[in-house]
Amino acid sequence: MKTQTIRGFKDILPDNIKRWHFIEDTAKQILELYGYSEIRPPMLEFTEVFTRGIGNTTDIVEKEMYTFEDRDGSSITLRPEGTASIVRSYIENSMHLKSPINKLYYLGPMFRHERPQKGRYRSFSQIGAELFGSYDPQYDAEAIIMLWEIFEKSSIGSALQIELSSLGDDKCRPKYKDEITKALKAKESELCDDCKRRLATNPLRILDCKKESCSKATAGLPSILDFLCEECDSHFKRVRELLDRMEVEYVVNPKIVRGLDYYNRTVFEVTTTELGSQNAVAAGGRYDGLVKQLGGQNTPAIGFATGIERMILLHEKLHPEGFDKRTDIYIAYLDNKYEDFAMKTAFDLRQKGLSVEVDYNDRSLKSKLKRANKLEAKYTVIIGEEEFARGKVKIRDMQSSSEEEVDLKAIQKFEFR
Ligand code: HAM
Repeated sequence: MKTQTIRGFKDILPDNIKRWHFIEDTAKQILELYGYSEIRPPMLEFTEVFTRGIGNTTDIVEKEMYTFEDRDGSSITLRPEGTASIVRSYIENSMHLKSPINKLYYLGPMFRHERPQKGRYRSFSQIGAELFGSYDPQYDAEAIIMLWEIFEKSSIGSALQIELSSLGDDKCRPKYKDEITKALKAKESELCDDCKRRLATNPLRILDCKKESCSKATAGLPSILDFLCEECDSHFKRVRELLDRMEVEYVVNPKIVRGLDYYNRTVFEVTTTELGSQNAVAAGGRYDGLVKQLGGQNTPAIGFATGIERMILLHEKLHPEGFDKRTDIYIAYLDNKYEDFAMKTAFDLRQKGLSVEVDYNDRSLKSKLKRANKLEAKYTVIIGEEEFARGKVKIRDMQSSSEEEVDLKAIQKFEFR
């Protein structure tokens, strides 16, 4: 019997790896331009990092975590997201002592036991950024601008839209929560089973439910933005003002709630209409209470994460041509006695920064040239009996099909374009 991948897990195959490199490299470049440094926390944490960090009544903690008992009986969990781990690391490594502002980014797989479908997997990858140490709305705006730049430079910005809101803080949000709980209790029978439960545990999440009956029930409810206290309101206004000034387009969507409990004030999602129901490509916001909640000092923070698979799906849609695998030179020889020469030539050319393929299989010249064509090699170096005896090889320009004889010792000096 063949062995298989686990449901919801996927290989990222060489066919598509160039897109991954392109997106990861683009993101890294931009993050570094904004002063972020990479951090690589472990993929496994004690379960309480996530239960305390993300919130006990969230879908992630209630039903999506890959949690195991370790050999010593402790409960450990494969990270379902990055933020809680980064906060744990920030506290554990006393980063606040090293710098008043810490800007960290990470990249790698996350694990959630969700129902797999296009754009939704049980193992998926995120690029995330987290900034610690400031309440200033400039940092909120800058995080959104930076995220937007990642999308623009990854050539997928045209299919994306920023949605923005504020969740207020501990002063103003409870009033809003009471208000909508009251309103929704009156419509309890219209809610789905999950939302009936949320009414007691996490009523704001009902605003985010995609089920038609729930959307209907929440349609006429007041907006959280009308409940913001003065400080939260002016913070949100300033974020918008800065985005306007930088000409970053967004829509205000007061129904954004987010599926993780740690957020306050600014929240945002970057969405697309191109990927069906998995429309969120990135999301983030402020979480000023999380460091304290996980045992650190009171430290404000803001961040986001973008789903790489969803970025790739968009890139495939917008740029189906993809990226070529680069082969500068293909070396084909007619007889095995030239094997050593071919290997040495390839080594020398690679030293010059050229990508070189040698076919060591015992095949005909015709099939080797076919392979060179398939690889879209720019040049083929042909080592043939008669030329070699005269101390020469042929170099064929694969685009023009023109050939040139070159001295064996002069191959390194040949101008491969
Ligand atoms: P999140 O909204 O849970 O936020 O995930 C962020 C992004 O990860 C989503 O917008 C989506 O692109 C991708 N994603 C999530 N689940 C899946 C899945 N099952 N399959 C494929 N892609 C998925 C967070 O994780 C927060 N930690 C973001 C954050 C960072 N907030 C502040 N800092």
